[in-house]
Amino acid sequence: MKILFICLGNICRSPIAEGIARDLILKQGLDIQVDSAGTSSFHIGEPPHKNSIKISKLNNIDISTQKSRPVNVYSDKEYDYYVVMDESNKANLLVFGFEESKILKLGSFTTSFKKYNEDVPDPYTFKDLEGFKEVFDMIYEGITNLLIFLKKENSK
Ligand code: 4NP
Repeated sequence: MKILFICLGNICRSPIAEGIARDLILKQGLDIQVDSAGTSSFHIGEPPHKNSIKISKLNNIDISTQKSRPVNVYSDKEYDYYVVMDESNKANLLVFGFEESKILKLGSFTTSFKKYNEDVPDPYTFKDLEGFKEVFDMIYEGITNLLIFLKKENSK
């Protein structure tokens, strides 16, 4: 199974999602490949945002070697699921011609963050680490429950 995590810049949210997923997949011994990408090319080649690296490191996850890349509308079509951070990411993927049935919203796998209406908030303009902590926690809960869903899908 192959999963692609998607946000706008591929520097704040989807790198955290990729890092948490890699960590839990390894710990749980699952056969799932993951990567992440952005719907924009704004930060192509850049490492994740310093606060995304910092909050991940505080949780023993190293995302510092990731590099931002835009989603490729041709070569990225083979993923089983595209896991987006918010509704605008989904709208962009639909414009790019990705299949709606393969698009999942990470926030729909969370229960503790109802105030965000299933959209992982974009922390790009947050001034300090505090906002990134909440974003990390929401992504962590989402990935934990997403993996339970994918395990069920894999065994069908
Ligand atoms: P991300 O956050 O989509 O979680 O990586 C953003 C990063 C960059 C921008 C917006 C959101 N930007 O406008 O450059």
